[in-house]
Amino acid sequence: MSTPALGEERIAPLDLNWVRAQFPSLGRSVNGHPATFLDGPAGTQVSQRVIDAFREYFEHSNANTCGQFATSRSTDEMIASARAAMADFFNCAADEVSFGPNMTTITFALARAIGRELAPGDEIVVTTLDHDANVAPWRALEERGVVVRQADIRVEDCTLDMDDLRSKINSRTRLVAVGYAANAVGTINPVAEIVRLAHGAGALAFIDGVHYAPHGSIDVRALDCDFLVCSPYKFFGPHMGCLYGKRDTLMRFRPYKVRPAPEALPDRWETGTQTHEGIAGVAAAVNYLAELGRRSNPGAAGNRRAELVSAYRAIRQHEMSLAARMIRGLVEISGLRFFGISDAARFGERVPTVAVRLAGQTPQAAAKFLGDRGIFTWDGNYYALNLTERLGVEKDGGLLRIGLVHYNTAEEVERLLDALREFARLH
Ligand SMILES: Cc1ncc(COP(=O)(O)O)c(C=O)c1O
Repeated sequence: MSTPALGEERIAPLDLNWVRAQFPSLGRSVNGHPATFLDGPAGTQVSQRVIDAFREYFEHSNANTCGQFATSRSTDEMIASARAAMADFFNCAADEVSFGPNMTTITFALARAIGRELAPGDEIVVTTLDHDANVAPWRALEERGVVVRQADIRVEDCTLDMDDLRSKINSRTRLVAVGYAANAVGTINPVAEIVRLAHGAGALAFIDGVHYAPHGSIDVRALDCDFLVCSPYKFFGPHMGCLYGKRDTLMRFRPYKVRPAPEALPDRWETGTQTHEGIAGVAAAVNYLAELGRRSNPGAAGNRRAELVSAYRAIRQHEMSLAARMIRGLVEISGLRFFGISDAARFGERVPTVAVRLAGQTPQAAAKFLGDRGIFTWDGNYYALNLTERLGVEKDGGLLRIGLVHYNTAEEVERLLDALREFARLH
């Protein structure tokens, strides 16, 4: 099915009342304060659809796959339809989608399989901006004599140093591993360009799409990447991981697997019994987004890929207007240091995840102060260890990370800013 051109179509503003009504957990309160979920980068809340999908799976379909009886058949059907949903999400074929427990486990398994084909002296490029799940699995191949090179960042705005990245790609490079967006500071990397650079050197391009997935539509065909991994629990689904791989590439590498397990795609990379209820939840998460897309752009109705693209356009409009308001307020707080892109003219290069520090205070103290007031943020390195070390904040408690997603409101942004102003005043 071809995707209609969406560039010219009008996208209605997000219906925030409808959105929030889909997420039962948003209604909770903490110490008499309404809960404000700004912890999305570590995991988002789920819609009622996802909760229902778990219950329905256990009530009606709970079985292992490929059996000659009703519950097994309906499990097979459910998995096939979830795979089709993720294929629309990635814009690929269904047999190019594999499920797994989480991004980290999938990436270790893939790296191990790719490592089987590498020789000492072969090179892999990783970056200083990335989550360690897109660094450690590749560094593990150093045991086999693989050389891992790390592309640096520009510290002043926490963007990738593209000159440094280019200088690290050469004829020995076999794979370039890069994040689509940085989970610590929100920078969007020029991934299409990086894929071209990798391919120009004859290397594979592996993209960690985890942090981008809640904020923007992913098109693996347009990117032409060889692999892209993401985690549904970061885009309003359950704790799972999903891998896209080009069909030929998935067939070329040999996963570590048990002998009776199928050699064919899509099962080849799915080691052992999967979390079936989670897979049902992934489909529900994608279908929630598709519904959001239909509401924002009725013209897209009937084509799930187009619905998803529309959903993300509405999400992006809403998130970035909140982010502009939040960043404007943050940089005015006395003693606050902002990490990453704060210039509104460059917001196209970021998602609405920001990192700050407050003079004389640990990020943990700030997160606790906020947490006591029902505002959920994260402190530390969030496993973006290369980055917090490079920024010189690792030994002092890392960063305070505030992450907006599409269910957040302007009122929540004001609540956060008021609380941080109070924290800065009191300390
Ligand atoms: C950018 C990024 N990559 C990878 C991961 C690891 O994902 P998972 O928890 O699915 O292993 C995370 C988790 O925070 C992340 O933010």
